[in-house]
Amino acid sequence: MAYEKVPHHIAIVMDGNGRWANKRFLPRIAGHRQGVESLKRCAKACDARGIRVLTVFAFSSENWKRPTEEVSGLMDLFAMALAREVNQLKKDGVQLHFVGDRRGLSPRVVRSMEEGEAATASNNRLILNACFNYGGRWDIAQAAQKLADQGLPITEVNMNQVMSMAHVPDPDLVIRTGGEHRISNFLLWQAAYSEFFFTDVFWPDFDEAALDQAIASFAQRERRFGMTSDQLDAEPTSAGAP
Ligand code: IPE
Ligand code: IPE
Ligand code: MG
Repeated sequence: MAYEKVPHHIAIVMDGNGRWANKRFLPRIAGHRQGVESLKRCAKACDARGIRVLTVFAFSSENWKRPTEEVSGLMDLFAMALAREVNQLKKDGVQLHFVGDRRGLSPRVVRSMEEGEAATASNNRLILNACFNYGGRWDIAQAAQKLADQGLPITEVNMNQVMSMAHVPDPDLVIRTGGEHRISNFLLWQAAYSEFFFTDVFWPDFDEAALDQAIASFAQRERRFGMTSDQLDAEPTSAGAP
């Protein structure tokens, strides 16, 4: 039985920032700020473990429903953290991608995304996809619209080429912190055959040990992709996504 021990691509629903802050009698934004620190630690740890792609859910299509103060706090934090960290990311070999609907975002936020992507485009150690104003349903709809506009048939192969994460393989492992067991409109298309790992740990507390727990759990799974165990045992090298 030859299982993939280390996932190539990990995707994370970084949940629990608000509750982390509440527990400490801090404003919710303090939890989000600590969440940025946790993301920096996590990206380093992923790189050190040979993970090549990290995708994080930073702001969902539905998060606009939060109080205006929190939404604007998140937008400010995003633009500031990006401006502050971009040089270090460049040095660390991180290639940044922003995934999501850029319409509806302020010009300042869009500009910081474009600058961050341009500054890190030639890096090749770790691909970091930050899903911002992202929804899985939006992604499927925009992909189908692209094919319709080009007059192409809506097949799985064509869809894969126009989905917002066409530049990376599908996630092997999806982690959700913060104790909820739901997908909240994250990678609906791409997570079709991902392994899932749920933890109660709030995102700001998600450290190397917590990451190692998720990877260890992944390493024990048998990914059958519709086949039987016997088939995988007979031909371990043929095990792979269709
Ligand atoms: C996740 O943490 C971050 C974002 C959605 C931006 P939450 O803000 O959802 O934290 P909880 O779930 O309220 O604890
Ligand atoms: C999912 O978390 C979105 C992000 C982590 C950015 P939410 O906290 O918004 O999810 P729900 O609303 O509890 O499902
Ligand atoms: Mg939440």
